[in-house]
Amino acid sequence: MNTIKRREFLKFLGVTGGSLYLTTHLSGCLLTSKSKNNPAWAISPSDADQVILSKELNYKQFIAWNDKINETESFGTNNDYIAFIQDSNNEAYLWVNHEHADPHKLSEYKVLEVGRTKEQVDKEQLAVGGSVLKIKKQNGQWQIIENHPSNLRVTAKTKIPFAGNIKIQGKDHAIGTFANCAGGVTPWNTILTCEENYHHGYGEVEFDDNGNRKLKRKKKSLNWHLFYDHPPEHYGWVVEVDPKTGKAKKHTSLGRFAHESATTVLENNKVVVYSGDDKDNECLYKFISDTPDSLESGTLYVADLKLGRWLPLDITKNPHLKKKFKTQLDMLIRTREAAHFVGASELDRPEDIEIHPNTKEVYVALTNNKTKGNAHGSILKIKEKNNDHTSLEFQHESFLTGGEDSGFSCPDNLAFDKTGNLWFTTDISTKLLNNFPYNSFKNNGLFVVPVKGKYAGLPIQVASAPVGAEFTGPCFSKDYETLFLSVQHPGEGAESLSELKSHWPDGGNNIPRSAVLTIQGPLLKKLMS
Ligand code: FEO
Ligand code: CA
Ligand code: CA
Repeated sequence: MNTIKRREFLKFLGVTGGSLYLTTHLSGCLLTSKSKNNPAWAISPSDADQVILSKELNYKQFIAWNDKINETESFGTNNDYIAFIQDSNNEAYLWVNHEHADPHKLSEYKVLEVGRTKEQVDKEQLAVGGSVLKIKKQNGQWQIIENHPSNLRVTAKTKIPFAGNIKIQGKDHAIGTFANCAGGVTPWNTILTCEENYHHGYGEVEFDDNGNRKLKRKKKSLNWHLFYDHPPEHYGWVVEVDPKTGKAKKHTSLGRFAHESATTVLENNKVVVYSGDDKDNECLYKFISDTPDSLESGTLYVADLKLGRWLPLDITKNPHLKKKFKTQLDMLIRTREAAHFVGASELDRPEDIEIHPNTKEVYVALTNNKTKGNAHGSILKIKEKNNDHTSLEFQHESFLTGGEDSGFSCPDNLAFDKTGNLWFTTDISTKLLNNFPYNSFKNNGLFVVPVKGKYAGLPIQVASAPVGAEFTGPCFSKDYETLFLSVQHPGEGAESLSELKSHWPDGGNNIPRSAVLTIQGPLLKKLMS
C-alpha cells in the first residue's frame, strides 16, 4: 500500500497513527487466491446490476418481495436466513426471514418530508418477520405449492408469547418479531429466527446503577413507537417458530442482544445453540439446554478467547453477577452488560456461525471492526475440547482473513455442504461498496472454499450480487442438489424514484425487489463428489 493510500485508509478507519494492531493485521493475511490461478468455474468481481454466476451454475427466481403466498398475504421484504425442512419425499417447508423495512421503498418513495403515517408503518410491520412456504420438487425444480394452508406469514404484528410464562414489562407476550437476520433449526425441526437490529423499531432501554430504566430513541430509525408504544425489552430475542403451524414463542433463556444466528446441535442429550452479537466489540455466546427437547431452561455462556473458556451468565453460578442484576431475567434483558462484566472477549462483529459436518469445528464469521482498524474481517474457527459441543473449554484460530490478497472482504453468512466445502457470502456495507478501501471487491458475492483438491482452502468467488445487494441465507436442500440463496436489499439507499440505483430483478424502471433464488448446476455435484 503506498503512502497516500495508506493515509486515506487510516483516515477512513478513524486511526490517527500507525497503530500496531493495524500493521500486524494488514500483514497477517493468510492464503491468497490470487497467488494461484483461479479455476475456470470462478468468476471475477463485478459491479453489474445483475446476478452473475459461475458458468457451471444456473439460477431461477423462486419468489420475490410482494409475490402472493396465499389469498391475503404476500412475501415480505429483505429476505435473509433460509431454512429447509424436508417433509415427505418431494415436499418441504421453507422458512425465510424478512429482516428490515426500508420506509422509502415500502412507500413507493412518496414519503418522509412530513414523517410517516400509521398506514405506512403498518405496511412496514407487515413486510418483516418471516414466511413459511410449502414447497415441492417437480422435474428437478423446487416450486411453491400455491395456496397451501401452510403458506403463512409471521410479522411485526403477530402476537408471540414469551416461553416459560415469563412476563416482561407486565406482559406475557410481545407484539411481533422483526429485524430477523439469520437463525437455526432445532433437533425437533422448528425454526429459530433471530432478532438482530431491533433498536430501529422501538428504540432501546438503558439502566442506571439502581436498575432504573430509561428509554433511548434515535431520530434516524423506524420510530414505530410513535404509533405503537411497545417496550424495547420485548425484542432482541431468539424466536422459535413451528413451520407446520406458524406457532411462535420468544426464548429469554438465550439472552438479548443483536442476535445474528442460532446455530443448533444436539450433543449428550442437550441442545447447544451458538449465537453471535453483530456489533463492533461484542461477544460470542453458547447456550446449553437442560433437556434434549426444549430451549426453555439451560445455561447461557459467553466466550473468553484468551482463557479458552465459556463463562456462565447465570446469577446463581456467578455471585458477582448477583451484585449487578436482581434476577436472572434482569440479567438476560441486559445480556451485553453481563458479558462485558464477566470479562468476555470483544470480537469483530460476530455474525453467522456454522458447524463443520465432519470435524465438528465451529466456524464464526467476524465481519469487520472499524474501531480496531479491521476493514475486511475474517473467519474464526473454534475447536471444543474433545470435540464435545457441551465442553466449557476450547481452542481457536483464524481460518481465513479477508483482504485484497484473499479476494474477499466482510464475510457474513456461512453454509457447509455435505462434503465440508464452506460457502460464504460477503456484506460490504452499501455505502462503502465500490469505494475505498473496498474497490477491488466490487459488488458483494458468494464464495466457496473447497475442502479438497487443487483449490483446497482457497476462497473462490462463484456469484456476484446486483448493485447495493448482499447475498444472504445460503441453504442447501436435503439432497444438496439445490442451493437456496437470498438477494437482499438491491439498490439500498435510494431515497427517491429519480435516484434508483438498481432495477433488479424486474429491469426497466422498476423498483428493485429482494428475492430468493434456487441455484443448481454441475459445480455443486463436482464439489461434492
Ligand atoms: Fe443482519 Fe448482521 O446481519
Ligand atoms: Ca448477516
Ligand atoms: Ca448483513
